[in-house]
Amino acid sequence: MRKEQFVCPYEVYDTMEELPQQDAELMRRAHEAARNAYAPYSKFNVGAALRLANGAIVLGNNVENAAYPSGLCAERVAMFAAMAQYPGVPFEALAVTAWSASKSIEEPVAPCGACRQVMVEVEQVSKQPLRVLCQGDTGPIMVFDGVESLMPFIFLDKFL
Ligand code: THU
Repeated sequence: MRKEQFVCPYEVYDTMEELPQQDAELMRRAHEAARNAYAPYSKFNVGAALRLANGAIVLGNNVENAAYPSGLCAERVAMFAAMAQYPGVPFEALAVTAWSASKSIEEPVAPCGACRQVMVEVEQVSKQPLRVLCQGDTGPIMVFDGVESLMPFIFLDKFL
């Protein structure tokens, strides 16, 4: 028997001003996108902004439904919209944020497991690391340079 460990490296920026300019712009767009969330049930409004290799920025917000599982997270809305609107264009970076009218969200919002599963596959298709930036409504920004470190022991197409 041996013990092993999984390492998840990431950067933390205390303010938006500290971020590289392109990242700060992307996070600003994610904050804009969160304003369009349709989240009448959770009231947790998530925004995502995805930058593609052709410079396009595709926005996503969570869209809920009275039949709860029919809704979708902001990240997947953005990633799937980009695959529909810009087929074959690699993804570069994805910024995620959230706000709520009832409480302040000061910790970075961590993407759910289903979104991470999709991120890993789109990263493979893109053939380049997908930079992921996470922030609350305010507060520090966590930056992951590639999504493999966000999703240990992922299910991959090689198992099929
Ligand atoms: N949500 C996202 O949009 N992204 C995440 O990564 C986590 C959760 C949404 C789904 C649901 O509309 C609400 O947040 C509460 O779970």
